[in-house]
Amino acid sequence: MMAFLREAWRSMRTTGAIAPSSIHLGNGLAAPLLAPGSRGPVRVLEVGAGTGTVTRAIASRLGPGDRLEAVEFNPAFVRLLTRALRRDAVLSAVSGQIRIIPESITELPLAERAYDVIVSCLPFTNFTPETVRSLLERFLTALVPGGHLTYFGYLGTQPARNLISSRAEAARHRSVGAVLTEFSAHYGSGGSGGIVWRNLPPARVIHLRAPERCAVPAGTAAALAAAPDRPWLRR
Ligand SMILES: C[S@@+](CC[C@H](N)C(=O)[O-])C[C@H]1O[C@@H](n2cnc3c(N)ncnc32)[C@H](O)[C@@H]1O
Repeated sequence: MMAFLREAWRSMRTTGAIAPSSIHLGNGLAAPLLAPGSRGPVRVLEVGAGTGTVTRAIASRLGPGDRLEAVEFNPAFVRLLTRALRRDAVLSAVSGQIRIIPESITELPLAERAYDVIVSCLPFTNFTPETVRSLLERFLTALVPGGHLTYFGYLGTQPARNLISSRAEAARHRSVGAVLTEFSAHYGSGGSGGIVWRNLPPARVIHLRAPERCAVPAGTAAALAAAPDRPWLRR
């Protein structure tokens, strides 16, 4: 917690939070991951893993053949996460299935149809609208057809920004909101996770789904990646 606060203070724009996500928010974000017995092996991407509270919620849902890639670009968080992978009971139980990628998601190439589930913890409202659009497009392209993308937004940030920020900042925030609304209108699953009140601050979980472009059932990225007749999916 102290480490998170220190990083939030040092780099508020990229950390974008005053506290790590609660386990309740973590569970809301990880909800598209069904119990391992009821699905095939899955590949999961978490973006902006921080100190690993959401990583833990995802890890607790991993089955034997599943894989999780956790992207985080703040070296202080990467160190904490690497240590947690050894010491935390939930994470260490599946540490062989988790890969930490210490890079910026904006620099990281993402293969098409590589993941069944993407969980983004990025502070979208601190980014430019162009960056948010580009990230959402890349995430949806990186999902198998029907794959799930979840992310969250804190409640009340727009009115707060209107009150305390410059006009340009408030306008940027509104433009980001418009991009997020547009993607929800196109790709919203109808079953969004709703509001998580037990988080500081309370947050809304948003749930998008990649279009069903062909008849490939969700839950098959790992199997497809290994399939010899799907060379474009091999990584
Ligand atoms: C709101 S915090 C979430 C942290 C953690 N997942 C949680 O929920 O408590 C956002 C995280 O995204 C990371 N982040 C921001 N921009 C990033 C980027 N371009 N690439 C990778 N990680 C990024 C920050 O360093 C921070 O850890």
